[in-house]
Amino acid sequence: MKHAGKIALVTGGSRGIGKAISMRLAQDGADIILNYKSDSKTAEESAAEIRALGRRAWVFQADMKDDKAIRAMCKQITDDIGQLDILVHNAAFGTMGSILRMGLFSWRAAMDINVTALLLLSQRLAPLLEKSGGHIIGLSSIGADMTFSEYACIGVSKAAMESLVRYLAYELAAKGIHCNGVSAGPVETRAIDWFKWPDAVHRYATTKSPWSRIGQPSDLSGVVSFLCTEDADWITGQIIRADGGISMGEDFNDWLTEEQKAESAARS
Ligand SMILES: NC(=O)c1ccc[n+]([C@@H]2O[C@H](COP(=O)([O-])OP(=O)(O)OC[C@H]3O[C@@H](n4cnc5c(N)ncnc54)[C@H](OP(=O)(O)O)[C@@H]3O)[C@@H](O)[C@H]2O)c1
Repeated sequence: MKHAGKIALVTGGSRGIGKAISMRLAQDGADIILNYKSDSKTAEESAAEIRALGRRAWVFQADMKDDKAIRAMCKQITDDIGQLDILVHNAAFGTMGSILRMGLFSWRAAMDINVTALLLLSQRLAPLLEKSGGHIIGLSSIGADMTFSEYACIGVSKAAMESLVRYLAYELAAKGIHCNGVSAGPVETRAIDWFKWPDAVHRYATTKSPWSRIGQPSDLSGVVSFLCTEDADWITGQIIRADGGISMGEDFNDWLTEEQKAESAARS
């Protein structure tokens, strides 16, 4: 098992993509420190699933917006567990809406949770990660470098996080720590409900991906696990897109009339 004996912290690891990452790392041999914000029942249930795999699981409530809570969690990990091989910053926040009406609270919360938390976690956990020659992974979104209506709050903060990933990778290489990002297209989780029209997100994903489906949390978890292996040792400071090909480009056929589409289909 490629992560046997390792310990991984996954922020927002209780459900959605974070849970899939926690489960995959556990299946690959790692013990899991599972962080969540408010839903303790779901977090405990996820921890129980990890323990059922024969792994250890610790559950830490800490809001990634709260510097004191992050500090306390990092201290507990350092003092009580004393080992960390993988840090996955997956928890995120953002509101949907027009830039011109964006409230400062939402903007700052997105920056705090999506960007600053990764900085604080990396600063405070670097001593443990240095000991293990560890890995830092940030979960990003294709909205960091593509524009989607009403997505600016999240997209801009994810772009900042991707830049932080590169700077961390550059500086922390001297400590033997790798740092990368994984950038997702739409993935079927509760986060899709943040969109005003979730059904349109589904249609967008299934139409734009040449695989004709929306992403699933398990589409991301294997990529994260791989990036934390020795086989990925030469990959650092990179943002790996896992979006089913959505961002490859436009399909000219989208602009065909119904008649032209029928003719094109008859020819293929
Ligand atoms: N789903 C998508 O389409 C999509 C696309 C691109 C990128 N991503 C990225 O993938 C990551 C995971 O997204 P998801 O769709 O799996 O989200 P999700 O289903 O909404 O899950 C969010 C998780 O994060 C936790 N969380 C939320 N706010 C937190 C905070 N302030 N502090 C600590 N934990 C917090 C939640 O815990 P509680 O339940 O306790 O609140 C939960 O465990 C995010 O970084 C997101 O930006 C998602």
